[in-house]
Amino acid sequence: MTKVTIETIDLVKRYPISLRSIAGGRHWECWGRVGGFREIFMRKKGFIQALNKVSLKVYRGEVFGLLGPNGAGKTTFIKILCTLVLPDGGEAYINGYNVVKQPGKVLRNLQAVLGEQHRGFEWRLSLKNNLEFYATLYGLSKRYAKKRIEELLELMGLKDRANDMYQRLSTGMARKLQLCRALLLDTPILLFDEPTAGLDPTAATDFRQLLRRLAKSEGKTIFISTHNMWEAQSICDRVAIINKGEIIACDTPENLRRCVSSEKHYRLILDGESNGKLKKVVDEFEGLNGVKDVSLEFDSQTKIIVKTDENFKILDMVNLIAKYSLNVRDIETYEPSLEEIFIKLVKR
Ligand SMILES: Nc1ncnc2c1ncn2[C@@H]1O[C@H](COP(=O)(O)OP(=O)(O)OP(=O)(O)O)[C@@H](O)[C@H]1O
Ligand SMILES: [Mg+2]
Repeated sequence: MTKVTIETIDLVKRYPISLRSIAGGRHWECWGRVGGFREIFMRKKGFIQALNKVSLKVYRGEVFGLLGPNGAGKTTFIKILCTLVLPDGGEAYINGYNVVKQPGKVLRNLQAVLGEQHRGFEWRLSLKNNLEFYATLYGLSKRYAKKRIEELLELMGLKDRANDMYQRLSTGMARKLQLCRALLLDTPILLFDEPTAGLDPTAATDFRQLLRRLAKSEGKTIFISTHNMWEAQSICDRVAIINKGEIIACDTPENLRRCVSSEKHYRLILDGESNGKLKKVVDEFEGLNGVKDVSLEFDSQTKIIVKTDENFKILDMVNLIAKYSLNVRDIETYEPSLEEIFIKLVKR
């Protein structure tokens, strides 16, 4: 059985609401609004529920995506896993180690890449020197560090820039260097908060491929948070959708799509057919099992649009095309994207 590498059980996090926000930004008005210290400390509702009973399991070798709108609780979740924030309830385990009780062991099993890529790098040191600095901090031997840094710079395509000063890097390169730093220790679990934010499409694609490679060929667990539906759909084995601190769905992108809508549309693009024939074809399509709606479109091309559900058999459509000898130039299919599913789920 595949090993569970990340597990949370009913994880809860509440942040206290600041005096400033209670007073609408004018903190000198706080006293009038909240009634002094006594009231502040007694306030029961003075918090933001960032996570509400979040239970998740992530497996070894999996790319797992946490998808949610702004303020949904994604960063908070990752910060709890990497021991930066303490939970207010529930439990979280990294490779079986409790994040609150065994933080040292947890940190030996994971690396987290959070937010701003420039944080923690010395601008006037070379890329290599920056990594050497972290290798020393992590207690790696000089020999091992030298070899590992060379390997990582090569892997990220930064080998030629190894001796360049950090300040000369582009945003994408800085992100890659951040990943090199995260991989120095070769931990089995990697957490990324919005890993491709700020990257151009090519750099983002390279980065995603790299994340998948790390999971599939090295067996690492990759956990990412993202707003980017396409990203989640294209690289994640499973996706959890979080909204207002609660997990509202968790499955493969394919199953999520199916559970919200089993609808699929086929668009048959035809080369000149007579109206009389088309009318008969539409009538027959309407009678097929699993067909919900059929319509015709006439613009520069003639199209038959067939809306189907899960009972529809594509062979029935092929037989009809053959029966009427339709000149089908192309067939386009349409399924709801993860984006549409996300909007539907969040609005429920
Ligand atoms: N240090 C903090 N103090 C108080 N409230 C906080 C703190 N950090 C986060 N919050 C609040 O907790 C909620 C969840 O925030 P979080 O940063 O986890 O969301 P997110 O899903 O990462 O959002 P985004 O997509 O914008 O990065 C928000 O309402 C946020 O304002
Ligand atoms: Mg965030």
